[in-house]
Amino acid sequence: MFLRLKSFAPFLCLGIAIGASLSRGADEIIKSSPSKDGAVIFQTVCVQCHGPKGEGNEQIKSPSIASLPNWYFKTQIHNFREGIRGTDPTDVQGMLMATIARALQPNQVEALSKHVEAMPLVVPKPSPIHAEADLENGRILFQERCMECHRYNASGELAFGSPPLIGKQDWYLSAQLLKFKSGKRGAAKSDVNGAKMVLSSQVIQDEETLRDITAYIITLNDAYVASQQPLSDPFIIRPESEAKSKTAPEAQ
Ligand code: HEC
Ligand code: HEC
Repeated sequence: MFLRLKSFAPFLCLGIAIGASLSRGADEIIKSSPSKDGAVIFQTVCVQCHGPKGEGNEQIKSPSIASLPNWYFKTQIHNFREGIRGTDPTDVQGMLMATIARALQPNQVEALSKHVEAMPLVVPKPSPIHAEADLENGRILFQERCMECHRYNASGELAFGSPPLIGKQDWYLSAQLLKFKSGKRGAAKSDVNGAKMVLSSQVIQDEETLRDITAYIITLNDAYVASQQPLSDPFIIRPESEAKSKTAPEAQ
C-alpha cells in the first residue's frame, strides 16, 4: 500500500465514530426543525463537522467548505443525494455526507449554497509532511496536468465544472484524488465531471507525486489572497491572523 494508513488507523476509527454519531444527530436536527434560513441551518447542523467558519475538521476528514461557489456546492449536494457520490461502503466520509445531504429540502440547499458562498475563504495550514515536498515537481505536474481545467491559480472554472482547489486542506485534496483514482468518486455513469477527474487522477502513481502536487496547490493560496487585495480582508481568514477573522454575512 503506498500510503502509510496503518499509523493513522486509531485516529481514523475515532473520526469515523465521532462522524457517525454526529451525522445521526445532524440528520434528526434537519428533519425536526425545517428552517429555510441558510445561516441557521449551517450553525445548527453543518457546524458540527465543518466548523463555525466552515473551516473543516481534520479528525472527521470534513473539508473546508467556506466560500465554495454555489454552482459547485449544488452539484455536490445533488451528487450526494442522488447516489452519485458517497455510495462506496469504504468511502466512509462520503457516506456520512450523503446522509446529511439526503435530509435537506431543496429550498434549504438553495439557502445554504448562498450562505456558504458568502463565507470568507479560510486559508489552510500545510501538513507537516509538506516540509519534504518537491514543490518544483508539484508545479510542473500542476501546470501540465491540472491547470487547463482548474486555472493557473487553482481558482476553478464554472465552464468546465472544475471547483477551486484553493481553500482546501492538503489531506482533503489527497483523499479526493485517491477516491477518483480508485473510482470511489466519479465513476457513476451520469457523473460527467467526475469522469474527467477519474482520468486526470491517474497521473498520481506514488506517494511522492501526491505529496508534491498537493503541497504545490497549497502554496497557491497566498498568490490568490494577494490577488484579491484590497477587497480580501473581510473575505479571507488566514490561519495566523485569527484576530482579523469576521463572521460570515447573514444569508439573504
Ligand atoms: C457528520 C459530519 C458532517 C456534517 C454534519 C456535514 N458534513 Fe459536509 N462533509 C462531511 C465530510 C466527511 C465530507 C467529505 C466527504 C468526502 O470525503 O467525499 C463532507 C463534504 C461536504 C461537501 C463537499 C465539498 C467539496 O469540496 O466537494 C459539501 C458541499 C458539504 N459537505 C456541505 C455540508 C453542508 C451544507 C452541511 C450542513 C447541512 C454539511 N456538509 C454537514 C461531513 C459532514
Ligand atoms: C479535464 C479537466 C480537469 C483536469 C485536467 C483536472 N481536473 Fe480536477 N476536477 C475537474 C472537475 C470537472 C472536477 C469536479 C468533479 C465533480 O463534480 O465531482 C474536479 C475536481 C477536483 C477535485 C475535488 C475537489 C473537491 O472540492 O472535492 C480535486 C482535489 C481535483 N479536481 C484536483 C485536480 C488535480 C490535482 C489535477 C491535476 C492532476 C486535476 N484536478 C486535473 C476537472 C479537471
